[in-house]
Amino acid sequence: MSTRTPLVAGNWKLNGSRESVASLAKAIADGMAGKSCEVLVCPTFVHLADVQSVLAGSSVLLGAQNCSVEQEGAYTGEVSSPMIKAFGAQYVIVGHSERRAMYAETSDLVAQKAQAVQQAGMQPIVCVGETLEQREAGQLQAVLDEQLDAVVNLLGIGSMAQCVIAYEPVWAIGTGRSASSEQAQEVHAMIRQKLAVLDAGVAQQVRILYGGSVKPDNAQELFMQPDIDGGLIGGAALKAESFLGICAAAV
Ligand code: 13P
Repeated sequence: MSTRTPLVAGNWKLNGSRESVASLAKAIADGMAGKSCEVLVCPTFVHLADVQSVLAGSSVLLGAQNCSVEQEGAYTGEVSSPMIKAFGAQYVIVGHSERRAMYAETSDLVAQKAQAVQQAGMQPIVCVGETLEQREAGQLQAVLDEQLDAVVNLLGIGSMAQCVIAYEPVWAIGTGRSASSEQAQEVHAMIRQKLAVLDAGVAQQVRILYGGSVKPDNAQELFMQPDIDGGLIGGAALKAESFLGICAAAV
């Protein structure tokens, strides 16, 4: 058994109104009262303040979905990691495949974002994962290497202990087609093995989450795998009942 604390994170993406997000956060906070699993919700930037106040006094943690690499200055439309931290956030998702694909984020930029998050005193959740085309072309390892090497080289292996990795196969995101627990475990083990070559202790410490069509009915089997330390949840995180069902599978 590993000593890593499971983490279940909800990535709310571009969803919700001020009202709906506050009531979702409240229902999750109430549902998690007295439970031991580490649970995180990541609303949009503009909802951080509302969700922060709803979560006050609860064990549910707050995070953001992206950040700038810059601290401050003439960068119209950007939000810096110190600004996010000021809302009590402890995590920031970086390098989600939607940002890599739709906003042309490179692995170098993602690494810089991860560094900015750590410099602000938070933990990055670095998303990695292959497309179906890449998997079928036998490029899985090469894709993971490219995405992870950028982060490990910039942060240094020692700092990877203060970093969460999320393996999110692109073909499983929002498709209803989760990776099987065997497929996911295989890749999580590859990622941990890759880190272990540099530092076995860090590799044992770093949490690796699985993301992609996690639902209450497949969560338990995924989370039982030795190298899967929780999940990064999209669609099923938008309803308290399904998200809490997934959290229950992590303890
Ligand atoms: P789904 O759970 O909707 O497949 O999304 C996963 C995801 O992208 C989490 O970041």
